[in-house]
Amino acid sequence: MGSMRLKAVILAGGFGTRLRPLTCTRPKILFPIGNRPLLDWTLEGLARSGVEEVILTVNYMAETFMQRYGEFSHGLRIRYSREKRPLKTGGPIKRAEELIGHEEAFLALNGDVFTNLDYRRLVESHRRSGATATIALYRVDDPSRYGVVELAEDGRVMRFVEKPPPEAAPSNLVNAGIYVLSPEIFGYIPEGRPVSIEHEVFPRLARDGRLYGYEFEGLWVDIGLPEDYLEANRLFLDTYAKGGWLGKDVHLEPDVEIVQPVLIGNGVTIGGKSKIGPYVVIGDHTSIGQGVCITNSIIFADAVVADFTSIRGAIIGENAIIGRWVKIEDRCIVGDHAIILDNVTLTRGVTVCPSKEVAESVLTPARLM
Ligand code: GTP
Repeated sequence: MGSMRLKAVILAGGFGTRLRPLTCTRPKILFPIGNRPLLDWTLEGLARSGVEEVILTVNYMAETFMQRYGEFSHGLRIRYSREKRPLKTGGPIKRAEELIGHEEAFLALNGDVFTNLDYRRLVESHRRSGATATIALYRVDDPSRYGVVELAEDGRVMRFVEKPPPEAAPSNLVNAGIYVLSPEIFGYIPEGRPVSIEHEVFPRLARDGRLYGYEFEGLWVDIGLPEDYLEANRLFLDTYAKGGWLGKDVHLEPDVEIVQPVLIGNGVTIGGKSKIGPYVVIGDHTSIGQGVCITNSIIFADAVVADFTSIRGAIIGENAIIGRWVKIEDRCIVGDHAIILDNVTLTRGVTVCPSKEVAESVLTPARLM
């Protein structure tokens, strides 16, 4: 990397609309992946790739970030660029122009991405092409949710199309939300208003022949929907905890059946004849009764799950209380401190907002406030 000081800007100010009902106490970027905040994984990856300084662009819940990460974290200097109002995905980069400086190319990242990308390689690819912006690209089956590129032989992006209808997507290569930007980028972002880098900046750079792509393989999930968040935890388990992981002071009855991979936090108790796994993450001090069945789910810390309940493909927030003989399935979200009474069934993407009490079953997608 020579003598340069590599900086990274992280977009950490989004509202996280679709996962927002899960918890009022933390932004999406601090949701746990394998019981550890997503941003911790990102900072660790950046430090490993030789980054020295990170600029967190924040607005919503700014104090939460500042209290948690302070001025130094994971061996990185952390600075903050605060917005009074949301500036979308390009505006925050323009606003941080002075902190970033004009000396060198820098990394810019969506904060809601879980990946093991080697950032160093992305930076090297950017240097080789001399582009204004290089986008990390990932191959997916359904590109219609993302920004899709048409790539030339030499890595130049010929076209950048944000969220095309499936039949109009020029390829399966999508914007992974991770970029290297040269200082000329500041000339492409208007000042003082919200700017979407995907809608306003990348298509223009592509037309000017200044946008390049760098395809990578490995782990990558953009955490927008509940199923993405479940997928990120599944990838974590498959990659880093295949044989499972057990915290301290865990109490399991002898006839509990664990189907790996399962991650169980500190101080968790699980009653007899319960079957846990595969693909389950349980936060610290959660208490699970007897005869409970949990698969493919995330249970946050300090929750209570009573006897004979079944949870499949769901996310349960902190301090939630789930009654006896309850069934929760298929992308349901139960918010922090919510209470689900005995015998209730929730399925097909039902979202229960924080502190809500639910007494009746709901079998079609709904938001219960
Ligand atoms: P969803 O649409 O529910 O995913 O919400 P989101 O707000 O996270 O939107 P999006 O996925 O488009 O955002 C991409 C990244 O940019 C995320 O890491 C956001 O946290 C971040 N982001 C979005 N809007 C802003 C903003 O106005 N300011 C800052 N600093 N970051 C933002």
